[in-house]
Amino acid sequence: MQNEGGGFGGGGRQMSHICTTYAVVLALALVGGEEAFEVIDRKAMWKWLNTLKQADGGFQVALGGEEDIRGAYCGAVIIRLLNIPLNLTSESPAWSEGEPERNLLTGLADYVKRCQTFEGGISGQPDAEAHGAYAFCALGCLSLLDHPRRIIPKYLDVPRLISWLSSRQYAPEGGFSGRTNKLVDGCYSHWVGGCFPLIEACLASPEESGQAQGEATRGKLPPAPDSGLFSREGLIRYILCCCQDQSNRGGLRDKPGKTSDAYHSCYVLSGLSSAQHEWELAEPTETKTAGDDPDSVWAVLPFLDFDSQFFDQRDRVRPIHPVYAIPVQHQRAIRSYFLAKEGF
Ligand code: FPP
Ligand code: ZN
Repeated sequence: MQNEGGGFGGGGRQMSHICTTYAVVLALALVGGEEAFEVIDRKAMWKWLNTLKQADGGFQVALGGEEDIRGAYCGAVIIRLLNIPLNLTSESPAWSEGEPERNLLTGLADYVKRCQTFEGGISGQPDAEAHGAYAFCALGCLSLLDHPRRIIPKYLDVPRLISWLSSRQYAPEGGFSGRTNKLVDGCYSHWVGGCFPLIEACLASPEESGQAQGEATRGKLPPAPDSGLFSREGLIRYILCCCQDQSNRGGLRDKPGKTSDAYHSCYVLSGLSSAQHEWELAEPTETKTAGDDPDSVWAVLPFLDFDSQFFDQRDRVRPIHPVYAIPVQHQRAIRSYFLAKEGF
């Protein structure tokens, strides 16, 4: 699936796309080991990402294709996991002779900021409709650029975003919808549910968050809540009761009446994992230069609710990294493998 141009297609002889490339990189991270990592031609990947990088900060998803927030998140994940050098080539639409300091990440956070809508959620492109999948892309992308406590309030209106995210959880179902006036769907357990650990990381210390807001912030950050920003019980009950395909087919699904598929099995389980764990992020370091990898140190604990035991311990799934959505040890292994390389 790897094309000579550097990216990966969704299948043999398909053109390269940033989403399929992101998926392949994660799949190789899960396989693990030198043989898997060395499948990737990093130099060609660097050149290809350069052709996708746009002058306004974002990434096209394919050469000549649309520029959207999937491109921003997938681009940032690929760059961080593979430790892709940030320099621009003259082939890049973002390259400018008079601005040698511009790089693959320049303007990316501003692009994300332009995708926040009047509702408070995040759209795929500036001036479109807010959608939960894009909220995760936005928060994930920002969290790869700097510590969430510093960068999320700097570029996004956090109170409005929290209001929109919390409104995605419906009663009586307990699951999340992807957008206003649409139905609950199990896959948003990840796309929306996965936003909360990143929002919580940005709220963790109100005093420090206040200092970190910077001039771009609109609105004061709310204090970190004691009881959580969504009902974990509601979500876990929706997943366990409504998203399991009880037929011989197995797997997980959008909702009762639908059949399971690989996409929903992946993201329902990812959402279950995040609802069953609590994450804490180490303090941001003071000395940081733009473009540095934050390489955040996330610590995880099982979520325990002693008042109401609403799921069996044997139904607790393993934790996944809040930004990369794969087990932390796989993320660390691929990153340290490529960090150890000098150049290509
Ligand atoms: C609407 O579908 C769905 C979208 C507008 C975006 C979907 C995008 C993703 C799920 C993932 C993007 C991220 C990456 C990293 C590739 P719909 O109208 O069928 O569903 P809805 O009624 O629930 O909105
Ligand atoms: Zn779905």
